Amino acid sequence: MRLTDQVLDNSLGPAAKDFEKVFYNSAMAGSRTRSVILMKHIIESGYLGNSEIYAIDGLAASGLRARRWLNELPSDYAERLRVTICDLNANSLEWAMMNHKQFPPEHGQGILTARQGDLRTAVLDQGWHWVDVDPFGSPMPFLDTAIQSLARRAILEVSATDTAALTGSSRTALLRRYGARVKTDGLAHDSGMRVLLACIARNAARHDRCIQPIMSIWDSHHLRVSMKVIKSVEISNKLEENLGWRISEPNKEETQASIDAKLTPPSSMESLPMHCFLPLSYSVSRKDKRVSGPLWVGPIGDSEVMSSFTEEQAISMCTKKFEKDNLLSWVERDFELQKRKVLRSIRYIEQEAEVADCGNLILTDDLASWLNQGSPPSPNKMIELIKEKGFKAARSHYSKPSFRTDAPWDIIVECLNKSQPPI
Ligand SMILES: C[S@@+](CC[C@H](N)C(=O)[O-])C[C@H]1O[C@@H](n2cnc3c(N)ncnc32)[C@H](O)[C@@H]1O
Repeated sequence: MRLTDQVLDNSLGPAAKDFEKVFYNSAMAGSRTRSVILMKHIIESGYLGNSEIYAIDGLAASGLRARRWLNELPSDYAERLRVTICDLNANSLEWAMMNHKQFPPEHGQGILTARQGDLRTAVLDQGWHWVDVDPFGSPMPFLDTAIQSLARRAILEVSATDTAALTGSSRTALLRRYGARVKTDGLAHDSGMRVLLACIARNAARHDRCIQPIMSIWDSHHLRVSMKVIKSVEISNKLEENLGWRISEPNKEETQASIDAKLTPPSSMESLPMHCFLPLSYSVSRKDKRVSGPLWVGPIGDSEVMSSFTEEQAISMCTKKFEKDNLLSWVERDFELQKRKVLRSIRYIEQEAEVADCGNLILTDDLASWLNQGSPPSPNKMIELIKEKGFKAARSHYSKPSFRTDAPWDIIVECLNKSQPPI
């Protein structure tokens, strides 16, 4: 059996942020699983060309993400990978390389190299097709050089664990690091994610690059955004088209401005939505507590990429069939539990692909109270009713019961009324 998240879960356990120790966090296993599936899809799509792929697992710790790329990608994909693991901690790199030697990919393909040093400078050693930035806390200190190091067409994956800042609980940290405000309501996690995307987009534009988000996910304590980064002055010039504000409880004028900017589907003003996006050019007051932003108002995912997150793909690449004599002395049930964990990490992504470009995230608990309805509707029922009306709707990979849709607000209200049991 390969030495991957399953093995580390049992052998290492979570380690402290002590620079002598090798850091490992089992809660990030899902993020690593998604990274493997994402890399397969991107290579398959031809976006990175047909020759070697230079990838850096920038803050590698145990090196597990990089080793999972090499171990779990099919042989003909792994063959093209030239992967570097970078970390300040020499022990981490030594440990990772030792494991790579002891448990190399079964197909024997791909190259793994270690680079000790500070990622902020080490990343500039050469150009990269794939850069992964997975720090303790905020990724902001690493972004500028990471973006400069990217090839003309590249992938950037960024994690952030400074949840309190990004969701607006630590207002000063949010303003200092990200230059934004976030209203601490049910959508705070979505707003925080969009604030981070806006910061990355601005940073990329400074280097004549534009971003195209392909997957953006909150997973328990951390946020992860993955994007294509493309060198293009022309598209970078249009950066501000994708930036704006989120207003909760918008009034008629704000709702109309959002509709006019094509950020909200046209609807009557009989009932006003819970929130809406406004373009960056819309004048908002710094004192207005309803406002979040500046944030990314463009798509936060790519439907083609997200639709590749199928159960079959996850099982075939990231799980092992039961073997009697295995390294961990696991029984059949352990393999089954592991399979479920992998499937949980991709839950709703394939379905959400269809609505990746829909800005309207509706929390069903909030919807019921906003419209003074009794009990919150089931997201699945709402999705069914909205789809019957000919609009797109799908469950969202979000921490609260929710769905994304392109339906106008009138339709959402109509479907909510229909979903309620007769009195
Ligand atoms: C959150 S951990 C990374 C976890 C890892 N990516 C994974 O999937 O398990 C952050 C790592 O960054 C390393 N680190 C912190 N500051 C760094 C810097 N400036 N340059 C390189 N590595 C750094 C730490 O030693 C630690 O191993």
